[in-house]
Amino acid sequence: MSKAPDLRVMLGPIELRHPVIDASGTFDVLEATARYERDFLTDFPFAAYVPKTVTREPRPGNPPPRVAETPSGMINAIGLANPGVAAALADLPRLAPLRAPVIVSVGGTTVEDYVAVVDAYEAALAAAAAGAAPNVVGYELNVSCPNVRSGCLSIGTDAHETEQLVAAVRPRTRRFLVTKLTPNVTDVVAIGRAALAAGSDGLSLINTLKAMVLDPATLTPLLGNRTGGLCGPAIKPLALRMVSELAEALDAPIIGMGGVISGRDVLEFIACGATAVAVGAANFTAIDAPDRIVAELRAEMRQRGLAKLSEVRGRALDRRPPAVTGS
Ligand SMILES: Cc1cc2nc3c(=O)[nH]c(=O)nc-3n(C[C@H](O)[C@H](O)[C@H](O)COP(=O)(O)O)c2cc1C
Repeated sequence: MSKAPDLRVMLGPIELRHPVIDASGTFDVLEATARYERDFLTDFPFAAYVPKTVTREPRPGNPPPRVAETPSGMINAIGLANPGVAAALADLPRLAPLRAPVIVSVGGTTVEDYVAVVDAYEAALAAAAAGAAPNVVGYELNVSCPNVRSGCLSIGTDAHETEQLVAAVRPRTRRFLVTKLTPNVTDVVAIGRAALAAGSDGLSLINTLKAMVLDPATLTPLLGNRTGGLCGPAIKPLALRMVSELAEALDAPIIGMGGVISGRDVLEFIACGATAVAVGAANFTAIDAPDRIVAELRAEMRQRGLAKLSEVRGRALDRRPPAVTGS
């Protein structure tokens, strides 16, 4: 019998026990633990936890309906509903038992908003007693939510604004900084390059695609916000294309996502140059989706005779990314 495949990856300085993490806004560890019989804090299926995007002030989000199913996917216009940074920080002690590193997702409408959230986290983490907070290893700057009218997406569609935002946040923390990119642009490499130039350590993509569905009876927009963000298997080919464009052009760790529902999907993103891979919409289909996906990944590697993920990383690229993108 061959040795069990090694699923570990290095996301920059962060060692992950396998490459599968959750996509922001699609898995709430506290809610899952309250609703199911499993303690997801101590038995966490993902290799890292990315909570819902946090903003400086509470946001009620968009009017309902906010979610609808689409062929091979779903559309949402939640509008970054969240209780704000003060409430998120009040929850930190409850997350302390979490057996996984945390990457805090930060959103806002101005540069100052993002800086304020990161500053608030840094202050709270510095003041927290040992064992009273989870292991926050980094931040993901969400400059790509398509469902808020100002800020966020408009920052992430402009290379200069993205650069300014990252440059403002960079000196506020020594933790790992990831910039989450939008697919709603013609040249994703230009935005990724700007984020890295300003000090982002890594990139994650894709956020959802701005889209619209109609109510078939009235032939008017179904979602309360009129438009929403499309995700799920329907967007995977587009996400693979964008991840590979970045991996070919830039040297930085990439968290790939968009339509991942199986272990093979994870391998495909890694073949396109990703180091870690996030699962979003699939979390709404079954609570054990991440366990299944990781088990499938292990089985796929065994079947293909792969001992470690670096053996496939970049296989789909014109240019193989250097070793810096992960083990
Ligand atoms: C209901 C829902 C809420 C989301 N909320 C956020 C969010 O708060 N912040 C963020 O960066 N992305 C958010 N996303 C986008 C996902 O993190 C991910 O980028 C996208 O859904 C593509 O992955 P998927 O096809 O696996 O769902 C959300 C997606 C869904 C479906």
